[in-house]
Amino acid sequence: MSAFSTAGAPLLLLAGSSNRPLAEQIAGYLGVQLGDAEIGRFPDGEVRIKLKSDVRGADVFLIQSTCSPVNDHLMELLIMADACRRASALRVTAVVPYFGYSRQDRKDEGRVPISAKLVANLIEAAGVHRVVTIDLHAAQIQGFFDIPVDHLFASRVFIKYLRQLALEDLVIASPDVGGMKMAWGYTKRLDDAKLAVIEKRRLSGEHVEVGFVIGEVKDKNVVLVDDIISTGGSVAKAAELLREKGAKRVYVMATHPVLCGRAVEKLRGAPVQEILVTDTIPTTAAIERLRVLSVAEMLGEAVHRIHSNKSVSTLFQA
Ligand code: R5P
Repeated sequence: MSAFSTAGAPLLLLAGSSNRPLAEQIAGYLGVQLGDAEIGRFPDGEVRIKLKSDVRGADVFLIQSTCSPVNDHLMELLIMADACRRASALRVTAVVPYFGYSRQDRKDEGRVPISAKLVANLIEAAGVHRVVTIDLHAAQIQGFFDIPVDHLFASRVFIKYLRQLALEDLVIASPDVGGMKMAWGYTKRLDDAKLAVIEKRRLSGEHVEVGFVIGEVKDKNVVLVDDIISTGGSVAKAAELLREKGAKRVYVMATHPVLCGRAVEKLRGAPVQEILVTDTIPTTAAIERLRVLSVAEMLGEAVHRIHSNKSVSTLFQA
């Protein structure tokens, strides 16, 4: 589907209701206004969409994180895409800064679904031609789609911040084995940074246990990197263990602030210097050491490049 030409087609940005502030910032970066759409509910709770902007022949970018309430936001995305297709949009790109259901990406026990694949199928079936997203739980989820996927990395914004901090004796740590590749990606871009990984076992959705640390963290400044902070257990336990093992300071850099359950309480009590997240998901959590970095510029540039048929790959670098 990506082979057709969108040259000359007007750019149109539309936003679902999940993250209006981010969509406004992307529009600001591109110097355009957000398109207009009525997004509501029917009396029984079904999603009701009415596009107010003319989408005929347009190169449409639908901005929607599928964050909580996940199912409502997902349905908004699907129904908006369907509305665009039926109103003769030339191309529809789903900009999904946070891709909900991404952690359900494999059968790790009998009789469970692969929900991330199902969601990918639904997005394609709704008429989306291309997807832009950030820090999927596993990069291989790109392959669940048979349309182009631009998978961007928040490390681009985190590393910029990290360079400003100019920390000495820097160690990048993953709170679990699954996140090691992400942590290693940081060390590749930061001269002299060393790698560490924590042995973590998940007991339930809310509870984790940590065991030992692989790598030298004593008297080091450790930056824990992760894709998601959900209930906060992983980073809180990892930070405690790192401090026990003699880490000088612990920073957290996690892309998507899902922050559910007792996350705020756990993060407030965690022995960390600063917790950095991005605005892929809007957050108003009152945590003193929480700082939100914006991915708006990176997404705005991705939209600009896709619309102008230019390479997006330079944005993959930090
Ligand atoms: C797990 O594999 C993910 O990368 C995150 O570490 C996890 O989702 C965080 O969950 P929680 O904050 O509930 O520990």
